[in-house]
Amino acid sequence: MTQVIAQDIVVAASILSADFAKLGEEVRAVDEAGCDWIQIDIMDGHFVPNITMGPNVVRAIRPETKKPFDVHLMIAPCDPYLADFAEAGADMVTVHAEAGPHLDRSLQLIRHLGMKAGVALTPSTPESAIEYVLDKLHRVLVMTVNPGFGGQSFISAQLDKIRAIRKIIGDRPIHLEVDGGIHVHTVPLVAEAGANVLVSGSGVFDGGDYAGNIKAIRDAAETARAAGAVT
Ligand code: DX5
Repeated sequence: MTQVIAQDIVVAASILSADFAKLGEEVRAVDEAGCDWIQIDIMDGHFVPNITMGPNVVRAIRPETKKPFDVHLMIAPCDPYLADFAEAGADMVTVHAEAGPHLDRSLQLIRHLGMKAGVALTPSTPESAIEYVLDKLHRVLVMTVNPGFGGQSFISAQLDKIRAIRKIIGDRPIHLEVDGGIHVHTVPLVAEAGANVLVSGSGVFDGGDYAGNIKAIRDAAETARAAGAVT
């Protein structure tokens, strides 16, 4: 697998929008359709008002693809479950800055378990939340919707936060990931603002042409970069 640098455009398919009645088949299909990462949304009905899946589902779909599993924990607390997700096959785990009082400890534990660590910020959380954990981060995830559901509308106020985080990251090897309402019409906005990892659920799975949707998202990002000369 080619090494992805923190500037490459990455398209991560969020399986929250997949057909749960055939999840293994859907993971194979979106892999073959050209996504770079598989994003798996874990929700507990406590931190967010929805319940999705746990480590057992991650374990069940792990054999379906070699693509990295980007597990987004929308749960609180998260520390007690990190080892289970590592054992189930997660390559990367993202925890929410808002999920508990000890973000640095959670990030250390993720790395100690051999996974890449990410932090997610809900729309109301300022970029300052990451300032003292940058040395532990593989990526920062800016939520461009309020977490919990697919198919929501993009919150354009997050563009300023994306720009601010791109500045904070500087030349560090940290990905800037965006998630929520990401599709061909919003991709140019977030790419120009500095995001390089584009998570999309309905933008990939809706309509059934997964390859066409992924290509359209990738092309829209590359075109925006070329136009804005974003490095
Ligand atoms: C929302 C999830 C997102 C969601 C994105 O809480 O974290 O990953 O699946 O779905 P779309 O791309 O449809 O907004």
